[in-house]
Amino acid sequence: MTRIEASCSPRVLEVLAHKVHQHLGIDFSAERRPDLLRRLQLLAMEQHIEDFSGWLQALAFADWDAAQVQALIPAFTVGETYFRRDAEALDWLARQHLGALLARRRLAGQRSLRLWSAGCCTGEEAYSLLFLLDELLGREADTWSLELLASDINTAFLARAEQGLYGANAFRRNDSAFRRRHFQAEGRLWRVRPAWRGRIRFIPYNLADGLQPCPMQGADLILCRNVLMYFSPPRAAAVLHRLLGSLSRDGLLLLSAVEAGIATQAGFTGTWAGCNYALASAARGGVRPASGAPAEAGPAPAWVPPGAPATRARKIPRPRAVVLSQPAEPAAAHAAGPEQLWQQAQRDLSSGHSPAARETLRRYLACAGLSHAQQHQACLQMARSWADQQQLDEAQDWLQRALALEPASMPAHWLQAQLAQQRGENQAALLALQRVLYLEPGFILGYFLQARLLSASGRARASDKALRVCRQLLEEQADDAPLPQGDGMSCAQLLRLCEQLLEERSACPSP
Ligand SMILES: C[S@@+](CC[C@H](N)C(=O)[O-])C[C@H]1O[C@@H](n2cnc3c(N)ncnc32)[C@H](O)[C@@H]1O
Repeated sequence: MTRIEASCSPRVLEVLAHKVHQHLGIDFSAERRPDLLRRLQLLAMEQHIEDFSGWLQALAFADWDAAQVQALIPAFTVGETYFRRDAEALDWLARQHLGALLARRRLAGQRSLRLWSAGCCTGEEAYSLLFLLDELLGREADTWSLELLASDINTAFLARAEQGLYGANAFRRNDSAFRRRHFQAEGRLWRVRPAWRGRIRFIPYNLADGLQPCPMQGADLILCRNVLMYFSPPRAAAVLHRLLGSLSRDGLLLLSAVEAGIATQAGFTGTWAGCNYALASAARGGVRPASGAPAEAGPAPAWVPPGAPATRARKIPRPRAVVLSQPAEPAAAHAAGPEQLWQQAQRDLSSGHSPAARETLRRYLACAGLSHAQQHQACLQMARSWADQQQLDEAQDWLQRALALEPASMPAHWLQAQLAQQRGENQAALLALQRVLYLEPGFILGYFLQARLLSASGRARASDKALRVCRQLLEEQADDAPLPQGDGMSCAQLLRLCEQLLEERSACPSP
């Protein structure tokens, strides 16, 4: 089942995209159709479906009940998460929101708090919140009533969250003291210590289902991060309305940075909360007056960065500013539009002002009406900027977001290969290179890196083969042609290097 695209009619694909959007809120509009097909292909392979096009047709024209939706969910949900993700934002929360909120509640004699991790995945976010609150409450913790809800559409993720058993990947940004404090070793895995077990209520809940009431009302804090970025703008806006309506008077909703633009486009203005974006409760005037669900049509043309296909943006109502209790940063009401911000970021990047460029890109991401392709470009630049400064974890985070937005982006997989190589993970780098070369078979540097990695893994013959492909591609180039993605290196320079390496190898062949 390698070439299934040809066997799927555009009409069937359109119906499937519509159904996925209707049931899951996920956006597979025109330019994302190949991604939809790829995901369905993977699912069909997992389920050993032989007649792929027949299966697609049946799927397109069937009624999707809850069981059918659940069966499809693994194809459409991304299980990327880890403990204390976006730690800067959690620190902001403790400093700017929770500390003051706890003090107010204490004074009022109301020692209770309601928190909700919406789109909690395998539970890392919810546990991180619980650990943070216990730390803030210290010895008082027993005298408080904490209601911590964590929901997700993927029941397999929820089952893992209930188990509270995690591998090294979940701790990728945490020191061992954090792990020892909250977890106990169990074979090669780590289980949440009893003090924190059973304190979070994990429930299935589909955020895209507007008919289901929100499972928590009067929430003091909702984290809904890296979830709505996959939704269509109208559906994301509708979810935002419902989440904001579920907050308590003091409540706050936290989105990831890449989702700031969704809020702006939906007519909400928040504030930067470390590297996240915070929106205050409707009851505090944080949202425009409820006038029903946002309109789902009426897009206006958006500005498009070079090389990015455009989608249409919705016309937005004028957003109202939100004043949070102790704003750490100015609200994101910027005079500059997306085009100016994008150009500014490019200038900052080319003059080596990385922090300024990242700040500008962050503001750019908060602009209304950006297409997925535009968000992807910005996330990729964020990732490159962190990678240039050897901040590989930060780079990886932004790269994940870029890939989630455009899974078939060759430059993103190329960066993935480079990051994996820098971490010394040769197999992961080779896997990423396979994708690079599948997406762009003539990408010269890809073969060169592949040759180096294969040689480092002791696969001399395969390495020589990659090097020879590299040489052949270089011989087809003009001598003074710059090497694509080669940082100023010319094709002729790399050709000399290739020839030298091949000569050395033929002089002393590997056993
Ligand atoms: C990338 S993870 C983010 C996890 C966590 N919030 C974080 O930031 O680390 C996205 C999660 O959203 C969930 N999700 C996707 N669509 C959903 C929907 N319609 N309703 C509820 N959860 C959904 C996925 O199952 C997945 O667990």
